[in-house]
Amino acid sequence: MGWKNDLFEIVLTRDQSPTLRRRGQDSGETMHHSGGAYAETQLIYGAPIRQVLNHGGRSFLSVGLGCGYNEMLVATECLKKELPPEQIFLLSFESEESLRQSFLDWLRGDNNSLYESIAVFFQEDSGISTQALRAWLLRASQVSTWVIESTLTRASKIPRPVECILYDAFSSKTCPDLWQEDFLMEFLAQTSAPNCCLSTYACTGALCRGLKTTGFRLVLRPGFHGKRNSTLALKGAFQAIPDFLNL
Ligand SMILES: C[S@@+](CC[C@H](N)C(=O)[O-])C[C@H]1O[C@@H](n2cnc3c(N)ncnc32)[C@H](O)[C@@H]1O
Repeated sequence: MGWKNDLFEIVLTRDQSPTLRRRGQDSGETMHHSGGAYAETQLIYGAPIRQVLNHGGRSFLSVGLGCGYNEMLVATECLKKELPPEQIFLLSFESEESLRQSFLDWLRGDNNSLYESIAVFFQEDSGISTQALRAWLLRASQVSTWVIESTLTRASKIPRPVECILYDAFSSKTCPDLWQEDFLMEFLAQTSAPNCCLSTYACTGALCRGLKTTGFRLVLRPGFHGKRNSTLALKGAFQAIPDFLNL
């Protein structure tokens, strides 16, 4: 099966990896930079995930499942370290029911050109096969060490604080609620474990203030493809680890 979704269409980015954009006239932003969805994912989220795993972190939060790049990245990095799903906690939020459903359907065996082509990017880079990646995520969902919740709001309950936050929400223009300072402060206070690393493609004043207020140290990183800055933020013991500071 190709891609059957009434709400989103596939758009190819410059490295030939796919992303999604809402269909119709009022289509809004694509889920990734046109310069490369896979390359952007690796640049912004790859190294932080690897360092968290290297330093004993086992819990992750992904805001915006979207096409599932970040979930596949966490799974790939765990497989590289031979970490079974039982040793990981991953919480994802996604407001679009059709995206939650189609990703899970693919894990359960449906053919789906979007997820299959993304998984091939991970396979070519890491040597982790598509089958192993799918099986890891399916097992994680079956044993509930990976949970997908719907819309993230102020009322969302986070079952446990996490050591790595992948904040990949749409921009403040499309999703203003998720970028407001008071929301971010409450969210970060509730979700971040004593040692925590947050990474996001964005760099906004409200985000930086929210992070500082909740005990994070900011490390400005170059943005993807000419974007000025992305944000890496470290809390607790992670602040003193050179591997993190040099990301
Ligand atoms: C930039 S895309 C995420 C891309 C994704 N991380 C990936 O790797 O493909 C943002 C996603 O957040 C979802 N979203 C928007 N508002 C949300 C909310 N309040 N709670 C959860 N998901 C939301 C959108 O439907 C969209 O799929």
